[in-house]
Amino acid sequence: MIDVQERPAPGPAEAPAWRHKDLLDTDVLSRADIDLVMETADAMLEVRSRPVAKVATLRGATVVTLFYEQSTRTRASFEVAAKAMGADVVNLTASGSSVVKGESLVDTVRTLEAIGADLLVMRHDRSGAPYLAAKNTKAGVINGGDGTHAHPTQALLDLFTMRRHLGALDGKKVVIVGDVLHSRVARSNVWSLLAAGANVTLCGPATLLPRTLASAGGEEGRVALTADLDRALVDADVVMALRIQKERQATGLIPSLREYINGYQVNATRLARAKPGALVMHPGPMNEGIEISPEAAHGLASVIEEQVANGVAVRMAVLYLMATARTK
Ligand code: NCD
Repeated sequence: MIDVQERPAPGPAEAPAWRHKDLLDTDVLSRADIDLVMETADAMLEVRSRPVAKVATLRGATVVTLFYEQSTRTRASFEVAAKAMGADVVNLTASGSSVVKGESLVDTVRTLEAIGADLLVMRHDRSGAPYLAAKNTKAGVINGGDGTHAHPTQALLDLFTMRRHLGALDGKKVVIVGDVLHSRVARSNVWSLLAAGANVTLCGPATLLPRTLASAGGEEGRVALTADLDRALVDADVVMALRIQKERQATGLIPSLREYINGYQVNATRLARAKPGALVMHPGPMNEGIEISPEAAHGLASVIEEQVANGVAVRMAVLYLMATARTK
């Protein structure tokens, strides 16, 4: 049972309703959906700033986090978000569950539903796994990252952070640089940024750039792909660095780490080509000295820590909207 009587104040009471049972990627979100998440997250940020940073909006709801892959910030962020709204939270990892005894994903998800899970936050090393889960349960499924495919709440918290600094993103230039090929963060960001009106430049060594993503930008060419970071950075409003996903890479995709650093590290010299004060972002975990220099990571234009803090408010918003949709 979900008690959503106590709305966070100020609540987006007149806003269009959330109509998604699951949140598996940002590609199905309309601009209105995204605005609703952003407005709700604004309200949640206000809740977070109160002396007692809690509301009872999700009292009676059970949120299960089911992580088949390592995570620090995503899992902790969802747990803090759910608890800040009074939900009961159960955390499961693959190693601590019956998965090691051979239980299938579908069985696991059905078991969790039977014990009363309302919302299931799931991370899996296989792309598409949360889609299988969502098809087999009445619980709302939130994708906390699946393989190289999608990471919708990361993209939403990235967008939220950009909007707090830049306002509306229409016509803004966002450069995402690094291992785009293996990045679920980049992929989900492409959809949400396009829906919010931004233009996206994906940059990295040619072997790490998925050509197919260019078509996401439609005929206006709102998604550009380039291997030339110095050119990509010209007029950038936002520069987002990505981690090299060594664990997902076949060998030989980058010539050497030194060459990678020379060509693609986000650092002060390079940032001078972007707009003055361009935001520096990174989803974490960072490898400082590789994809980003320590000065850039901790410099004045860096909003990396803010991304993590905003992640809690955005996940509160997502949990709240999905729980509300379930009570209708
Ligand atoms: C990312 C992930 O796991 O997809 N981290 C995160 O959730 N903030 C990015 C990464 O692993 O590099």
